[in-house]
Amino acid sequence: MYKTLHVITYGCQMNVYDSQRIQEMLTILGYSLSQEMDADIVIFNTCQIREKAEEKLFSDLGRVRILKDRRKEFNKEMIIVVAGCSAQALGKHILKRAAYVDLVVGPQTYDKIPELLAKIERDRVSETKPGQGILRTGFPKISKFDNLKTPRNFHGVSAMLSIQEGCNKFCSYCVVPYTRGAEYSRPLEDVLQEAKALLKKGAKELVLLGQNVNAYQSKNFLGKNVTFSELLYRCAELEGVFRLRYMTSHPREMTHDLIRAHKEIPQLMPFLHLPVQSGSNNVLQAMNRQYTVQEYESIVEKLKEARSDIAISSDFIVGHPEETEEDFEKTCQLAIRVQYAQAYSFMYSSRPGTPSALKQQIPFEIKKERLHRLQEILRHSQKTFNMSKKGVTLPVLFEKKGKHSGQVLGKTPYMQSVYVHTKNNVSDVIIGTIQEVEILEGHLNSLMGTFANNEKQTYPHFNSHLL
Ligand code: 5AD
Ligand code: SF4
Repeated sequence: MYKTLHVITYGCQMNVYDSQRIQEMLTILGYSLSQEMDADIVIFNTCQIREKAEEKLFSDLGRVRILKDRRKEFNKEMIIVVAGCSAQALGKHILKRAAYVDLVVGPQTYDKIPELLAKIERDRVSETKPGQGILRTGFPKISKFDNLKTPRNFHGVSAMLSIQEGCNKFCSYCVVPYTRGAEYSRPLEDVLQEAKALLKKGAKELVLLGQNVNAYQSKNFLGKNVTFSELLYRCAELEGVFRLRYMTSHPREMTHDLIRAHKEIPQLMPFLHLPVQSGSNNVLQAMNRQYTVQEYESIVEKLKEARSDIAISSDFIVGHPEETEEDFEKTCQLAIRVQYAQAYSFMYSSRPGTPSALKQQIPFEIKKERLHRLQEILRHSQKTFNMSKKGVTLPVLFEKKGKHSGQVLGKTPYMQSVYVHTKNNVSDVIIGTIQEVEILEGHLNSLMGTFANNEKQTYPHFNSHLL
């Protein structure tokens, strides 16, 4: 019988992508995916970016331990694997604090999971010392991507594709440069090959991923440098690609040619996640973000010149060490000026080993109160943005069925979720297609619409062959 595999993913889109690749690797080897935590192999793909994610890992490990112990009563085994950024950062500490964990493997070595699982199984059969977890958290010379050339086993409409990993920016609050390592870009040909495989499997949208995706820098087979914008143009040429998106960008890497790509590539969607973190130059400097508020706003202006309807999203951190009330007020003012279509905001969380962790910390209550105030502003602008689409007809790429019968769910070019009710038997045909939808209601987190008749067309750009 096939062994069962359950994967739990915390954190960012990069982790969601990594989990997909881990599942793919193991299903090819005969493991079957299970929705139940009580499985033969349980993999935690972890996040270390804020303290809460780490706490959640240990509390979930405690729950799975009970299942592992219970299995023993029935002579059944369970292998527990901790992968991802917490594995990298905490390493041995995990094996110490949770001795029932069998394997700890960092984000750069997860391609080794199959052989390490086989080793654990072999050791069990030969009854060599049980209870000694294995630790693999190096940064190998050969990229894991070189060992992951299997065709993507993809089902769906929107496909993630990791093109770049790691970070050299060293923002002073952030653990990513330590857990994910130095910036690395996958070779152009590999990316295009994976993109083609995904499109062949039915993907209509490609989401290019990287911690610093717009720092992508690679070479083509002739050895010529390839920038991120060139990669976008190449992806847009691929057959069957309806939509392109990318995340997460750093403002410093928003080059002129990348901004121009937003004007010239019809498939590139008018939505950009461009984290600002703070609206105060003092805090930006303390964070080592390497841009000023003025530079950030000038990038937003240029993007709007290139693509007038572009929607901007962001990440904010409140309560970074040394943030004064005045600094925080500037963040609120920036949020009001930019009018974000969507945004994530976090209380600063001290991460051991980062420079900001050594500074005088802001009391929790102050951070909490500031976060609350900023979130009010961000919620308001998100709702205003969504409500502004009421009465507008937009091209929606349909991705899946909704919870209720006859409901289909898709995305606008601006990344808004849209629900439409259909006659039951029509919904299957619609998934994977772009349809004109008249928006009837705009809510905080979603839109509701109806299929528009063909004459109505108010979407501002490129209503060409893609619609
Ligand atoms: N505390 C709070 N938020 C953080 N982020 C990164 N590090 C921290 C931290 N130490 C946020 C940033 C980043 C997002 C992915 O997580 O806003 O853009
Ligand atoms: Fe972290 Fe800054 Fe790198 Fe983003 S750019 S991953 S916030 S260090």
